[in-house]
Amino acid sequence: MHAITIPEAGGPEALVWAEVPDPVPGEGEVLVDVVASAVNRADLLQRQGFYNPPPGSSPYPGLECAGRVTDIGPGVSGWQIGDEVCALLAGGGYAEQVVVPAGQLLPVPDGVDLVTAAALPEVTATVWSNVFMISHLRPGETLLVHGGSSGIGTMAIQLAKAVGATVAVTAGSKVKLDFCSELGADILINYREQDFVEEIKKATDGAGADVILDNMGAKYLDRNVQSLATSGRLAIIGMQGGVKGELNIATLLNKRAAVTATSLRGRPAGEKATIVAAVREHVWPLLGAGHVRPIVDQTIPMSDAAAAHRVLEESSHIGKVLLVR
Ligand SMILES: NC(=O)c1ccc[n+]([C@@H]2O[C@H](COP(=O)([O-])OP(=O)(O)OC[C@H]3O[C@@H](n4cnc5c(N)ncnc54)[C@H](OP(=O)(O)O)[C@@H]3O)[C@@H](O)[C@H]2O)c1
Repeated sequence: MHAITIPEAGGPEALVWAEVPDPVPGEGEVLVDVVASAVNRADLLQRQGFYNPPPGSSPYPGLECAGRVTDIGPGVSGWQIGDEVCALLAGGGYAEQVVVPAGQLLPVPDGVDLVTAAALPEVTATVWSNVFMISHLRPGETLLVHGGSSGIGTMAIQLAKAVGATVAVTAGSKVKLDFCSELGADILINYREQDFVEEIKKATDGAGADVILDNMGAKYLDRNVQSLATSGRLAIIGMQGGVKGELNIATLLNKRAAVTATSLRGRPAGEKATIVAAVREHVWPLLGAGHVRPIVDQTIPMSDAAAAHRVLEESSHIGKVLLVR
């Protein structure tokens, strides 16, 4: 088969479409003929040599895909050859075929075409596990989403609105904030022009956000804690603003607040299967009913993954950038 390989870490040109050995499904795994994959920010770090795949997983980039099941390993039940699926991966999505632990497969949701389904596994699993399973966002609470127009952000806005929460977002332009508003965001903050601590306080009568989904890490740590409401929960999922920050423990104590951080890719297969099952139970019906939809900025041929990485680096996109075969 062919896959995007990274012979030497570097810029987008480091991504090379090359012939590689066909993968073979083992115990509890299926083989998927990939129709589409999607670009995640983590793929850019892997390309640059800063984010190695977890031990035992594919060396090729790609944390999600959509396609058809073409082979089934021993001990797998519930899936048939020919099934149209999408899947959460630890790597290997930028390829013609990929082996997937059966617990990380999802059916293509009603009303979503096979290619577009590649936009769903990573954002639904990340948002559902952080905002709902860990941070327990409840109806009537306020969620602040940093990077509201990102792949992650566009899903977080829609899921939080679907459960009856108020949603605040940050983004770097009016065009992006307008899009977030169309998706249902209630409080729009331009992080280049406004102070999000002040704006979130103003919009919540001084209370602050009950849950914050954060992509920035160190750079926003102190301001995020300042923005939290009493009993607030800060869920850190990204390090775009660095890895070492300073935390005012007194503020955290007085608010009885919590800070959590998770990375989906390195979680054991059993934990991923639990998250994927929860996504299928809670998010798939919302997609099927049209209350939530995948947001796709553009599709690019997989062999030209470099072009797709440039789009993410420029941050000119809204939602997901897909790679198609
Ligand atoms: N931990 C996990 O398991 C996990 C899983 C998936 C993704 N993630 C993380 O989630 C984040 C979003 O991922 P993605 O793939 O959806 O990325 P993406 O579409 O490339 O989005 C990146 C976002 O960062 C925003 N941003 C840049 N500077 C900002 C700032 N100063 N304040 C607020 N927002 C800022 C950009 O907004 P503008 O374009 O408006 O500037 C853009 O919306 C990334 O950090 C990624 O690593 C984590």
